[in-house]
Amino acid sequence: MKQKIFLFLALALLLFIAGCTQQNLSVEDSISADENLIKIGVSQIGAESDWRVANSESIKTVFTEARGYHLLFDDARQKQENQITAIRKFIQQQVDYIVLMPIQETGWDSVLLEAKQAHIPVILVDRMIAVEDESLYASHVGSDFLWEGEQAVEWMRLKEKELNIVQIQGTQDSTAQLGRTQALEKAVEEENWNLLVQLDGDFTQAKTYEVMGDYLSQAERPEIDIVYCENDNEAFGAIQALEEYGYTCGKDGVDVISFDATRQGLKLCLEGKISLIVECQPLLGPLVEEVIQCLEAGCVPERHYYADEEVFMPNRLTRGIISRREY
Ligand code: AHR
Repeated sequence: MKQKIFLFLALALLLFIAGCTQQNLSVEDSISADENLIKIGVSQIGAESDWRVANSESIKTVFTEARGYHLLFDDARQKQENQITAIRKFIQQQVDYIVLMPIQETGWDSVLLEAKQAHIPVILVDRMIAVEDESLYASHVGSDFLWEGEQAVEWMRLKEKELNIVQIQGTQDSTAQLGRTQALEKAVEEENWNLLVQLDGDFTQAKTYEVMGDYLSQAERPEIDIVYCENDNEAFGAIQALEEYGYTCGKDGVDVISFDATRQGLKLCLEGKISLIVECQPLLGPLVEEVIQCLEAGCVPERHYYADEEVFMPNRLTRGIISRREY
C-alpha cells in the first residue's frame, strides 16, 4: 500500500513539474517573440512632397515584423514641436533606436540629450541637425545638399551669360534648403548674376504656385532666365504659375531647375519643361537598416552615409529610366 501511495505521489509530482515547465515555456515564448523584435521609433516630418512619401514608404518596407522589427511611426505634420513630442514618447516606450528626419537644423539639443540619457541611439535620416554635442546622434544617413546645389549651379555657369534668377526656397533652416541655397548664393556673387527674388515655397506645390503667382502678378512683367526650385513639387507649382502668366518653360524660355528626380519630375524633364533635375535619394530604408545592424553588432557606424545621386537633363533621359523609377 505504502509503495502504491509513493508511486502515486511521484507521478503527481512529475505531472506537476511537467505542467509548470510547459506553462513557463509558453509564457516565455510569447514574451521572447516580442522581445526579439528591435523596437524602432521613427519621427517623420510629414508628407509635404512626393519625395517625403517615398521616404516614408522605404522605411515602412524595411522595418517590418517579418524582418525582425517593431516599428512605431509618427508623422509630425510639418511641426518641429510634434517631432519633439514623438521623441519623448519613444523614450517613455523604451524603444531600442530613434530614427529622426529633422524638419530643421536647430532646436534639438534638449530632447536629444534626454534620448542620450535614456541610452537610446538616435539615427538622423535625410537632413542634419546643428548641435554642439556631436554625441547626441549615432550616425546620419542622407544627402549632401551643398553638392546637389553645386551640380545645378555648374550647369547654370555653362550658359555664360548674365542670368536673372527667381529662387523658390524650401523649408527654412532645413539642411536641404540651406545647402541648395548656399550653392546658389555663392555663384550669384561670383558670377554677378541677378537674384531677382527669394520666395519661400516650403517644399510644396501649393505654396509655390501661390507665391510664384503673387510675384508674377506685379505690373511690370519680370524678365526671368532661371527659376531655381528647391524640389520637384515646387517646380510643379512654379511651372503652373509661369504658364498661366504666359511664360514658356524650357528651351528658348525660362529654365526651371529642380531637385529630387521623382517620376513626375522626370516626365516634365523629358517633355523639356524642367531643364535640369539633381537627384535626391529618398529610398534610405536599407541604409538605415545597415546602421542599426552595425550598432546591434556592437560596431561604430560612420558619422555620415551619403546616397549616390545623379543629374538629369532632357537629352539624357529615356522613357525606360522614368518607368523604372519607384516614386
Ligand atoms: O530633405 C529632402 C527634401 O525634403 C526633398 O528635396 C524634398 O522634396 C523634401 O520635402
